[in-house]
Amino acid sequence: MSLPRNLRHIQALAKQQANTVTLGQLLRTTRSDPTSLIRQGQWLRSQLPIRFARRLDEFLQLPYVVVHNSNIKQVFDIYIDTFESVSDFPTIITERDEADFVSLIRAQLEKHQQVARLVAEGYREVRHNYPHFRLDSFLDRLFITRISARILMENYIRMRTPQEGHIGVVQKELSPLRVLQDLSTEITRLTEAIYGVAPEIEFRGNLTCTLDYIPRHVQFMCQELLKNAVRATTERHKPRNLAGFGFTSEPASIPRVAVELQKGDVHVIIKISDQGGGMPKKIQEEAWQYGWTTADNEDDADPYSGCSWRKELAGYGFGLPLTRLHAQYFGGDVFMQALPGHGTDMYLLLNHLKEGSPSIEEDDPSTALTETENRSVNAP
Ligand SMILES: Nc1ncnc2c1ncn2[C@@H]1O[C@H](COP(=O)(O)OP(=O)(O)O)[C@@H](O)[C@H]1O
Ligand SMILES: [Mg+2]
Repeated sequence: MSLPRNLRHIQALAKQQANTVTLGQLLRTTRSDPTSLIRQGQWLRSQLPIRFARRLDEFLQLPYVVVHNSNIKQVFDIYIDTFESVSDFPTIITERDEADFVSLIRAQLEKHQQVARLVAEGYREVRHNYPHFRLDSFLDRLFITRISARILMENYIRMRTPQEGHIGVVQKELSPLRVLQDLSTEITRLTEAIYGVAPEIEFRGNLTCTLDYIPRHVQFMCQELLKNAVRATTERHKPRNLAGFGFTSEPASIPRVAVELQKGDVHVIIKISDQGGGMPKKIQEEAWQYGWTTADNEDDADPYSGCSWRKELAGYGFGLPLTRLHAQYFGGDVFMQALPGHGTDMYLLLNHLKEGSPSIEEDDPSTALTETENRSVNAP
């Protein structure tokens, strides 16, 4: 990979002061009149390039083996493309300019859809050759910026078409049960396609509880935790092929995965319990690292082990670290009680993203990161 021709521009912008904005501030300026749209467009036009320049500057300092990976290279190219097209965009003055700018942001957001998968695939390939190589803090910063840039871009796209029950990216009174039920159907189908069987998923607790949150985030976190529970359970309890005889053992009864919803004073709590064998104590900590997975080399004799749709269920080792990053982003959390030899309870705690609540008015990791970087570029 050669250095980008606008290296100096990237470095100069990375050193500029970035303005921070909390979700609370963002939602208060979420209005659909032309003046608000133009103002928000101008703000993004000036701020996105600084954020992308800072990540590009870090990309450029990665070791050779990383930047030469074709998946990571694709991510780098997407970042360069966003950086260039947004910073090259002329000053936004008229409604017409603003309409052009939102089209650009839509197209860029679309390109960024695949970033998480490309990074995960690239990191897996790099670590295949260099198993001790780790990039956890780089990846944390990359994904924190990604979460915030997507919120900013999506909110800007949505603010022009106000939708009942939403403020920008936030959905009010979202039903976690609905989200989890839809995911269950999908994950059961995928698991059956891979293993031939799947555990039942049952729902308990406060099934009618609701939450103000970004729907895409709830979906992502619940999906990752459910997939892990379903996979662990199926791996442990699936009927085994009896070697050489071409028939399977007794149809096993697969224990259910239980999803329990509760509403606390500040949180909605989603507890996902499985009997998938839990994890040894040592692994319980390692499992939160990027790229740590037991799905990589399982069952080499399985003809489907290399299938791309198999990787939809597990295999990148990004599910747990990214779920924690999303949960903590707005002051929530996720923790695990894994009883080795039995099963796992995962607790996901999500704060209501209501105006005035600490979860959206106090510093999120992106604001904290931006401020730290502002300070460090100012240091003598
Ligand atoms: N509910 C669970 N039961 C048993 N092991 C689990 C569970 N959740 C996660 N793990 C372990 O943690 C590893 C990392 O999980 P994750 O980050 O989601 O990556 P992936 O699912 O792609 O392997 C899994 O490969 C698995 O070994
Ligand atoms: Mg997973």
